[in-house]
Amino acid sequence: MSNDPFAQLKVIQREGWSLFAPLEAVTTATAAELVRHARIRAGQFVLDVGCGTGVGALTAARAGAKVCALDLSPVLIQHGRQHAALAGVEIEFSEGDVEALPYLDSTFDVVISQFGHMFAPRPDVTIAEMLRALKPGGTIAFSTWPPEHYVGQMFALVGKFIPPPPGAAPPPQWGDPNIIRQRLGDAVTDIVFDRSVMLFPALSPQHYRKGIEETLGPVVKLVAALKDEPAKLAAFRSELDGFVAGYFENNVVRQHYLMTRATKK
Ligand SMILES: C[S@@+](CC[C@H](N)C(=O)[O-])C[C@H]1O[C@@H](n2cnc3c(N)ncnc32)[C@H](O)[C@@H]1O
Repeated sequence: MSNDPFAQLKVIQREGWSLFAPLEAVTTATAAELVRHARIRAGQFVLDVGCGTGVGALTAARAGAKVCALDLSPVLIQHGRQHAALAGVEIEFSEGDVEALPYLDSTFDVVISQFGHMFAPRPDVTIAEMLRALKPGGTIAFSTWPPEHYVGQMFALVGKFIPPPPGAAPPPQWGDPNIIRQRLGDAVTDIVFDRSVMLFPALSPQHYRKGIEETLGPVVKLVAALKDEPAKLAAFRSELDGFVAGYFENNVVRQHYLMTRATKK
């Protein structure tokens, strides 16, 4: 394995995220929200980064856009190709890293990411790549988890138990409008934020926890890392259950998220 800590992190992330496919059941509806927020129209050339099984890409393609989609995980991309075939749409899927996009400058009318680019460790590199691939006047739009709500708290908790390599930014920073404004900087105009809630069905907080321990990359990896440290694992589970309890009602966990849209200058 490479000595580069970020390359090592991505090897771990690629494997961890490969179990994500069942969670498309909850990201499908929010993908439609992001495609609406991004104002994607028929005929536009769209890129979905951190596409997972392609829920955003597929929604854009069904709206008539020409779509490329990229993800670290070849397993998820394979699911995406099957989805596209089933829906009868063409999407060009690629395995790759949002920090090094394999597209020419100024290629796309719209670049989107639903809970994807936020997991790349270097926000400055990530945003520079997303904007590089976008045409001047094009739209960048993404959904992210705010630090003050449940999912942001959960990722902060994961980071407390398994700290990321030095220099890697915590993913929930991408859910803070002030930080987003700084990161987009002078490269964009017309930043627009909107907020929504993902409803995650579960029979109990414990069912919810078991589900994400089996599917949500960073949590899958954390549970595996703590398998010989039962006290630490119990502490993690207890803290997680405490966060979930505050957002669990009527058999759903309410997962608040932020949507951002901006225009490249
Ligand atoms: C929470 S999932 C979201 C997947 C999909 N966008 C959805 O909404 O269902 C995060 C995705 O980001 C991808 N990802 C994480 N880091 C990445 C990187 N550096 N480059 C490309 N994809 C990345 C993961 O492989 C995973 O598919």
